[in-house]
Amino acid sequence: MASKQTKTRDGFASSVGAFAATLGSAVGLGNIWKFPYLTGSNGGAAFVIAYLLSVLLVGLPILVAEHLIGRKTRLNAIHAYGSVVKGKKYWSLIGWAGFIAAILIMAYYTDVAGWVFAYVFKAIGAAISGTTLNSDTFNALAGGTWEPLAWQFVVLVITSSIIAAGVSRGIERVTKTLMPVLVVLLILCDIRALTLPGAFAGVEYLFKPDFSKLTGNVMLTALGLSFFKLSLGMGTMTTYGSYMPDETRIVPNAAKVALSDTIVSILAGLAIFPAVFAFGGSPAGGPGLLFNVIPLIFSKMPLGSIFTVIFFILSSIATIGAMVSLIEVPVSWMVEKGRMKRPAAAYLTGAMMFGLGILATLSQGPALGNAKIFGKNFFDLFDYVSSNVLLPLGGLAIAILTGWLLKKGEVVEELSKGYGTIKPRYIQLIYIFIKYVSPVLIFIIILNGFGVIK
Ligand code: PFF
Repeated sequence: MASKQTKTRDGFASSVGAFAATLGSAVGLGNIWKFPYLTGSNGGAAFVIAYLLSVLLVGLPILVAEHLIGRKTRLNAIHAYGSVVKGKKYWSLIGWAGFIAAILIMAYYTDVAGWVFAYVFKAIGAAISGTTLNSDTFNALAGGTWEPLAWQFVVLVITSSIIAAGVSRGIERVTKTLMPVLVVLLILCDIRALTLPGAFAGVEYLFKPDFSKLTGNVMLTALGLSFFKLSLGMGTMTTYGSYMPDETRIVPNAAKVALSDTIVSILAGLAIFPAVFAFGGSPAGGPGLLFNVIPLIFSKMPLGSIFTVIFFILSSIATIGAMVSLIEVPVSWMVEKGRMKRPAAAYLTGAMMFGLGILATLSQGPALGNAKIFGKNFFDLFDYVSSNVLLPLGGLAIAILTGWLLKKGEVVEELSKGYGTIKPRYIQLIYIFIKYVSPVLIFIIILNGFGVIK
């Protein structure tokens, strides 16, 4: 997201552009890496159902609320929340919590992105030598010291440089063209995986729920994933809303984004779980699931080694798009408020992320593997605090602000933009969700997740 340092604010030229950019921020490692890995570690279909309900009942209304606050104020996230209700500047706290969440997320996201980059070269090596990448390859990479750190550093230098040069729009364009290719590759994986002998057990795992698996913590994880997936609770989607033209119909746009994003995740799940069961692996394979299973699926196809290389190249590019949108939140604020130059803000943010990122990366190997806080290593801790604590709390605050502090008329007016005189009924419906359903659900799930209520 390029916000140029000019007086006139940058913005999306059209509603199609607004949709593509919003989807570009949502789709990323969350779909191909996090959704399958969390589904596998949280018991399968029951988690998937909790996740789908979270997207529908909470994620979608909050996405609408974020876009509406962004477009109404046309400010960066921190200023937007601080000024949307007169005399209530302290709501800018939502933006600050988002600032911290962005840095925590990037600390481990860049570790995983580093694995994806590394896998491009490992896949090329395997293609040349005629071998297949296996779990030893992944364990040696993720559990190493210098190799994952070097890749994480490369990822952050590339991402910060893109932001520093203010060319993130270019990256968005590249991502937009290549994303459909990635989806085609995923469908190819689905077809191959679903036709393997024994694949059906994976389909059942993904869609046949065992509700005894649904503990409070599992539901909180599903809620957190829906926030992470739709880039919610931390200001990214508010910033995107601030760039939206007035003719964009916020509700249908948000609904299309949530639906498309969810389809990509399900496609990834339909590639990975049937293959896991067909190959006799464990669905609870943890963060390595994607890296261990995708090369195996392709190895059962003609030209598979080449497809593996292409898959990881496209994933690297999709990853850069999502990371750029994550870094932009702190950077846009530093530039606007702190009067910093764009490159300085970008590299400073990158350096902060690398500082925490070292801890996340080394906690996957022997160097810091035994360092635990609340029973979690740094990688899991940063993930937990951002996705399961900060983003849901941010979402709760956004729902309260929009539903209870803004006047209903203001909300309806913003959501009615882009329509003629006839206002569709679903605007009233989504208002009820923002005001009552989402905040109550978030509140209950948070209390339940922390074991305060049963
Ligand atoms: N939504 C991205 C994904 O699922 O990979 C991750 C993300 C991007 C989270 C931007 C938060 C954010 F602000």
